Amino acid sequence: METHIRKATVGDINDILVLNSLLFEEDREYDKTLDMTWTRKRGMKYFLDRITRRDKCALVAVNGIKIVGYLVGGLCDSASYRLSVVSAELENMLVLEDFRGKGVGKKLVEEFLSWCKTNNVANISVTASAVNNRGIKFYKSLGFKDYNLTLEMSTS
Ligand SMILES: CC(C)(COP(=O)(O)OP(=O)(O)OC[C@H]1O[C@@H](n2cnc3c(N)ncnc32)[C@H](O)[C@@H]1OP(=O)(O)O)[C@@H](O)C(=O)NCCC(=O)NCCS
Repeated sequence: METHIRKATVGDINDILVLNSLLFEEDREYDKTLDMTWTRKRGMKYFLDRITRRDKCALVAVNGIKIVGYLVGGLCDSASYRLSVVSAELENMLVLEDFRGKGVGKKLVEEFLSWCKTNNVANISVTASAVNNRGIKFYKSLGFKDYNLTLEMSTS
């Protein structure tokens, strides 16, 4: 069955929250500092914002009646040290494991890129954990390139 992409609606919020909690569980492999209560405590307001605000974008991938992936992002301020251009951030996304490797993630990103084009975006960023090789390869295959590298140390 073909998977198609559409704009998310308020009625999709619970499905998106479930997918976002799966993203946290996967990302926990890479980042032990993640707040695993974030989806429950803050997710509802955050995703409602992404779905309803004109400067934000929320997409879902639908197979039959099942939501199998999501992507959220939106316009953001460019860093003050950089020339001011319209900027956007791909904030987070996930495709259910059984639907990976079938082009669903690519379709979600392409739809986001088309939303960016409509909004005259000149620069798009995405942050991935430095050890999320699969995610980084995926984003690079779609045209993203290394820009900043954030270094951290734990003092505890
Ligand atoms: C990253 C993710 C969204 C990719 O979704 P997907 O539907 O599997 O990706 P696609 O099938 O559209 O792949 C598009 C391209 O990305 C690359 N790619 C995808 N998965 C890859 C992998 N495991 N290793 C290397 N490259 C990969 C390929 O070049 C692929 O193109 P191809 O099919 O022509 O070879 C999905 O694996 C996922 O949800 N991962 C967990 C959450 C996550 O890491 N999110 C991103 C960080 S917030």
